[in-house]
Amino acid sequence: MSTRQNLTVIENPLIKRDITYLRDEETKEYQFRLALKRIAYILASEVSKNFEVVETEVKTPLEITVGHKIKKDVILVPILRAGLSLVEAFIEMIPYAKVGHIGLQRDEKTFQPVEYYYKAPKNLGDSTVIILDPMLATGGSASVATQFLKGRGASEIIMANLIAAPEGVKRMEQEHPDVKIFTAQLDRELNESAYIVPGLGDAGDRNFGTL
Ligand code: PRP
Ligand code: URA
Repeated sequence: MSTRQNLTVIENPLIKRDITYLRDEETKEYQFRLALKRIAYILASEVSKNFEVVETEVKTPLEITVGHKIKKDVILVPILRAGLSLVEAFIEMIPYAKVGHIGLQRDEKTFQPVEYYYKAPKNLGDSTVIILDPMLATGGSASVATQFLKGRGASEIIMANLIAAPEGVKRMEQEHPDVKIFTAQLDRELNESAYIVPGLGDAGDRNFGTL
């Protein structure tokens, strides 16, 4: 694992193998989804290292001992639509999490995110909010989503990605230095169409079969 300012790039041989499946243009949707889900479990595990725990008591069949519970509620916020691909694995790891949704679509000419949907639980301010999106490219979608959530009271925000570009990381560090970013892969750069290279193409299209 390497950590730079607010960026953590998770180092794991299973992630390296699965990122290779995701990158491969020959990978079919069902294989893509399985590889993505395996990475999402590891991401959820790494992100959860930030959760504060409080001690509690638990009675085993033999005696009373110390137990632990997670202090704050967790709210997952996938950025539609590709962010949906990460939700199931995170919910399996954090079953009590609530889920908000932010609909953002990148304009193909300007690369600016256009908002089309928002729904989230009310207690954002008391919760650990985890934004889910497989791709952090220009950082426009992540920044707008973060601003949205802050405007509605969120104070502790973590971002979980599969692949990040240096440009998106830099933008988030400048505009939202308080947001911790966890990614499975830091790629080289953006191309002239603002796609991450080498990347995996369009994450939503690859995951949902809409190529
Ligand atoms: C993709 C991706 C991010 C965004 C990243 O979504 O899932 O949300 O682009 O790009 P950015 O960092 O430059 O904003 P897209 O707009 O393609 O929508 P989709 O999830 O519906 O496919
Ligand atoms: N969105 C994607 O799905 N892929 C990219 O490389 C950039 C934005």
